[in-house]
Amino acid sequence: MPRNCCEMEDNTFGEDEAKANLKDYRKRGPAKQTKLILEAVRSLGLQDASLLDVGGGIGAIHHELLKDMASEAMHVDASSAYLKIANEEAQRQGHSERVKFIHADFTDVADELPQADVVTLDRVVCCYPDFRSLLKAAASKSRKAIALTYPRETWWLKMGIAVANFFQKLRKDPFRGFVHPVVEMEALLNGEGLRRVSTRRLFVWEMSLYRRP
Ligand SMILES: C[S@@+](CC[C@H](N)C(=O)[O-])C[C@H]1O[C@@H](n2cnc3c(N)ncnc32)[C@H](O)[C@@H]1O
Repeated sequence: MPRNCCEMEDNTFGEDEAKANLKDYRKRGPAKQTKLILEAVRSLGLQDASLLDVGGGIGAIHHELLKDMASEAMHVDASSAYLKIANEEAQRQGHSERVKFIHADFTDVADELPQADVVTLDRVVCCYPDFRSLLKAAASKSRKAIALTYPRETWWLKMGIAVANFFQKLRKDPFRGFVHPVVEMEALLNGEGLRRVSTRRLFVWEMSLYRRP
């Protein structure tokens, strides 16, 4: 759900977008909200950790964490263009052998994947209508922690995304953005045995780190 997730994400997150993101990453390093995830994950003090990055885009999170904290990573993404660029960058940085790349809707393949110490979802829940399935699957794969970013639940962001979705509809593009209810996301993760240990906010994005007690 949705059944055409990969096709839709391939259209939305194509090669031009991936190349532009990579250019930014090489020039300026990880984006601000990605830095919040990196800081939160590093604050766990893990070593040789395994990482599962869902919807990792060009792979900034695993490129960075494989430098110090993680020994291996899995990157599951519905966009083949992002995966291709992430793989090329992993080769350039010399750690491609430690990353497994999977092109899929994560909710379709989660049952077949091994658990990881840390699961990350950077700006992913806002691209997916069924946040419950996505977060439940992510929680089931997380041995120690989940860090995620999502749009802040403000009226002006809800309005902005509603306007953007309206134009998507006019363009007959099926991709939609979502401001999912933060309280419900938290309740779901609590129900999966995870507790929120930190939250940080930017103008648009909020980052929360959840741990198993
Ligand atoms: C806005 S981009 C964010 C990319 C990257 N995490 C970043 O912050 O730059 C959303 C990413 O999530 C992926 N995505 C969305 N829903 C997904 C799902 N159900 N399974 C796997 N990937 C998904 C998209 O393909 C895309 O790469």
